[in-house]
Amino acid sequence: MILLLGATGYIGQAFAAELRRRGERFIPLSRKAFDYTSFELLFDYVRKIRPRFIINAAGYSGKPNVDACELAHGEAFQANVVLPQTVARVCLVTQTPMGHVSSGCIYSGAKILEKGHLRLEKDLSRPEIRKLFDTHPERFFGFTEEDEPNFSFQNQPCSFLGGTKALAEAELRQSATTYVWRLRLPFSEQDSPANLLSKLLRYPKIYDSVNSLSHVDDFVRACLDLWKMQAAYGIYNITNPGAVATHKVVQMLQRVLKPRRFFEYWIDDDEFYREGARAPRSNCILDVSKLLRAGIKMRPVEDALEASLRKWRPAQATTPSDQALAAQMAGFLTPNHHDWTPSLVCEDSEMRVTGE
Ligand SMILES: NC(=O)c1ccc[n+]([C@@H]2O[C@H](COP(=O)([O-])OP(=O)(O)OC[C@H]3O[C@@H](n4cnc5c(N)ncnc54)[C@H](OP(=O)(O)O)[C@@H]3O)[C@@H](O)[C@H]2O)c1
Repeated sequence: MILLLGATGYIGQAFAAELRRRGERFIPLSRKAFDYTSFELLFDYVRKIRPRFIINAAGYSGKPNVDACELAHGEAFQANVVLPQTVARVCLVTQTPMGHVSSGCIYSGAKILEKGHLRLEKDLSRPEIRKLFDTHPERFFGFTEEDEPNFSFQNQPCSFLGGTKALAEAELRQSATTYVWRLRLPFSEQDSPANLLSKLLRYPKIYDSVNSLSHVDDFVRACLDLWKMQAAYGIYNITNPGAVATHKVVQMLQRVLKPRRFFEYWIDDDEFYREGARAPRSNCILDVSKLLRAGIKMRPVEDALEASLRKWRPAQATTPSDQALAAQMAGFLTPNHHDWTPSLVCEDSEMRVTGE
């Protein structure tokens, strides 16, 4: 029996679907039914049912995006720092192995090969860096699991989200029977408010940078495979190998989905941070060699993006809360863009638009 915390969330649902597909017995827990944030309750429950493994897919990721964490420090801290500590302590006392969903948002930048040396570049949204990535992507290297987070409360500036995720890792890395799985900008073929592709389709203006990304289903498969094959515990970067510039993803969206809209970009960081964002953004490349060395197969990021777009399943905004979220996604960035009407109708498919 596996215990899955945060099973109602975006990542939790992906774990639940994959566990079901594999025929694994698991108990999905939601705070509504059972307050797993309480040490006492979780401890008693784990002692009673003795799970083989606990997956912590719960956390505060910020809706519609990371900026939300800047307005909910207490809740983000509770969900991203206190809860993983609680779960880790229950696991320690009951001798239960654990997997925790962390994030790549504890880093900013990449290592760039220059004159035979690797130089740390913290800002991948600088125009000259984006240009260099367009022409020489092979000169960009990612952060490994050995690298200290450089977008954390210890290494500011950071977003509150990045700070809390790094803090949780600092505690969990002490544990001898814990996997820390780092996810980065999740996407898939299923249109959803948390899917990067859905966000890019709906953002009034796009922030261009370079990033590693994780296909959600590839991510959960890799996490479960690590556990199943008894790979060494510890931290793993789990992204699709490679990195991609946001404008390249937008070009793919345009080529495959043919949305009837114009994609506008923020002119520069000044404009983005003045009008569009509250929290500093972490744009980064992660190195996945440790994951691949462990025997996990991951598709290159371009292949995963292309496949997701070709199999794209548009969401239907049926409930008022879906519509409210879609409207929020469309308008939250730019106060001046509230009159913007998303026009995402696909020319060659039946794509229907949330929020239209
Ligand atoms: N989505 C991303 O872009 C992204 C990127 C990198 C890493 N991550 C990490 O992945 C994990 C899951 O994120 P997600 O995208 O699946 O988030 P989500 O859709 O918001 O789901 C998270 C789940 O966590 C549970 N939870 C427990 N305490 C909470 C609290 N105080 N506030 C909000 N939710 C709480 C909730 O489940 P119940 O209330 O039903 O128990 C909720 O459904 C998080 O640790 C996040 O940091 C996400």
